[in-house]
Amino acid sequence: MADITAQRRIEQEIPELNAELEQRVQRRTDELNQANAELSSTVQRLQLTLDELVRAEKLASLGSMVAGIAHELNTPLGNGVMAVSSLRGAIATFRLQSEQGLRRSMLNQLLETMTTGTDIAARNLARAAELVSSFKQVAADQASSQRRSFALHEVTGEIVLTLRPLLKRSEVEIDVKVPRDLFFDSYPGPLGQVLTNMVSNAVAHAFEGRSDRRIVIGAEVLAPGRVGIRVSDNGCGIPPDLLPRIFDPFVTTRMGRGGTGLGLHIAHNLVVQVLGGSIAVDSRPGEGTRFTIELPCKAPVAATVADTGAGRTG
Ligand SMILES: Nc1ncnc2c1ncn2[C@@H]1O[C@H](COP(=O)(O)OP(=O)(O)O)[C@@H](O)[C@H]1O
Ligand SMILES: [Mg+2]
Repeated sequence: MADITAQRRIEQEIPELNAELEQRVQRRTDELNQANAELSSTVQRLQLTLDELVRAEKLASLGSMVAGIAHELNTPLGNGVMAVSSLRGAIATFRLQSEQGLRRSMLNQLLETMTTGTDIAARNLARAAELVSSFKQVAADQASSQRRSFALHEVTGEIVLTLRPLLKRSEVEIDVKVPRDLFFDSYPGPLGQVLTNMVSNAVAHAFEGRSDRRIVIGAEVLAPGRVGIRVSDNGCGIPPDLLPRIFDPFVTTRMGRGGTGLGLHIAHNLVVQVLGGSIAVDSRPGEGTRFTIELPCKAPVAATVADTGAGRTG
């Protein structure tokens, strides 16, 4: 009797239990669905944030790149402007003087000034154009059009000439010891850019608080068809902890003070990928810095500027 009553009760309870179970499953499913929806919207937000970060970083890199380009262009353009304005000065002086009568010596003087001034202006404008086109190449991942035969001492001479005002302003002596008989079939634009980066780095970083400021550019044959170029300074040197990362992008001790940390990175990529050589640094604190560039006299065929800084940084 009692058994039957108990069984009845159980039979009555089963549907209730079932219903409750179903409700619980439904609730759990709802909760899971909601959690799932929240998760996927979080993932979506994260993806957006990531895209945003990448975009911001690219923009920042692009900004640094542009700042670097502006900086590199500043020197030749500034020199060009300076040369032209000194020409105008000379003409004005001549006009004034000639009102009191023309003399042969005045003409000669004017001619001389005009010759030097136009030379400087022309060289600097050409250098600016060369820089622009080499940057354009970096951006366009192409370098083959700028290949030509040249004498190393001529290219180094031109570079040093355009850097002269900077060197003079910073009271830095430069000594160029490049033999006249080193000939290249290579890319003078990128090579010039590498040398410019080395020299302007020495000026910017090596000599603070020092009075004896010297840079030496030397070159020698290492093996048939291979030349070593050295750019050394007698400045403060590079701290040992910085040295292994010196060619990495955005490594600078001048963050926020004109440093981009791209100069040596770009130099490294140009040497390796365009000129087909290698670059090494040797430096001890207090004992100066020496960069050694090893180059084939004949650059590799079909060099690509695929990743000379712009690719990775822009
Ligand atoms: N000749 C040098 N003497 C001392 N430090 C140097 C020299 N050349 C480069 N450096 C160091 O290497 C860093 C990286 O140089 P670079 O890549 O050209 O970036 P940036 O010049 O914009 O700082 C510099 O910030 C500087 O600390
Ligand atoms: Mg630099």
